[in-house]
Amino acid sequence: MAKIVGGLTTSHIPAIGLAMAGGLENTPYWKRFFDGYEPAKEWLVKVDPDIVILVYNDHGLNFFLDNIPTFAIGCADQYENADEGWGLQATATFTGDAEFSWHLAESLIRQDFDMTTCQEMLVDHGFIVPMGLMWRHLPEWPVKTIPLAINTLQHPLPSASRCLALGRALRVAIESYPEDAKVVIFGTGGMSHQLQGERAGHIDVDFDLKCMEKIVDDPEWMAGLSNSKIIEIAGSEGIEIIMWLVMRGALNDNVKVVHKHYHVPVSNTGSGLLVLENSA
Ligand code: DHB
Ligand code: FE
Repeated sequence: MAKIVGGLTTSHIPAIGLAMAGGLENTPYWKRFFDGYEPAKEWLVKVDPDIVILVYNDHGLNFFLDNIPTFAIGCADQYENADEGWGLQATATFTGDAEFSWHLAESLIRQDFDMTTCQEMLVDHGFIVPMGLMWRHLPEWPVKTIPLAINTLQHPLPSASRCLALGRALRVAIESYPEDAKVVIFGTGGMSHQLQGERAGHIDVDFDLKCMEKIVDDPEWMAGLSNSKIIEIAGSEGIEIIMWLVMRGALNDNVKVVHKHYHVPVSNTGSGLLVLENSA
């Protein structure tokens, strides 16, 4: 049977990708940020997952404003990255698991989450930056991946509570897969940031830290916030934080905090890393 061992959150800021490509990890701007990822990488070595379900938002590479599904799942055996204009080099192909994806899609749709199923999917910085943060030191990606894209771009967006519920349905879907597989969920994006308009550069450190605390034992607090409230507090792109709730919903009610790291700013964003392990 497939088993969820834990999950993690991470921001996906493109500048991180540029820093990794340029080998800037030990420079003054980046050292503290990248040092914070070492315990997460060690945890991944310890739990040794077979597959990562990576919850992220596409920013216009695969879906554009004329055509955005609310919830989409990759159902392919491989996924490519491509140039999206940030100057990031395209990564190696990611291996998927179409059979597992179709099982998840079927289970989620049976649970009334009407997923868009994508047999071709380009994955953008929302996907490749988290993968690079964990595994860029290896010659190839050591896990299979399933992309799960949430619309955080074109309003109307799904609510925080709907994202938590999607995560809970995802848990049922994963745990009903008959093949053996160790699964880790990545909930990516956030934390507070606004890249445009009068409030460009807005960050709310108190809100970010409260979310990192509350998501562990009281995710309902975050799920109770409206999207307009989250945008008011955390900025227009701070709404990406709703994707963390998909990861949290997929884990057990009781989780252990393995590692927590917050660094601000990274580019224009508060950056949060949280590693959670399922308690028995
Ligand atoms: C930045 C953050 C993002 O989440 C993103 O998608 C693009 C840029 C930033 O802070 O630069
Ligand atoms: Fe983003």
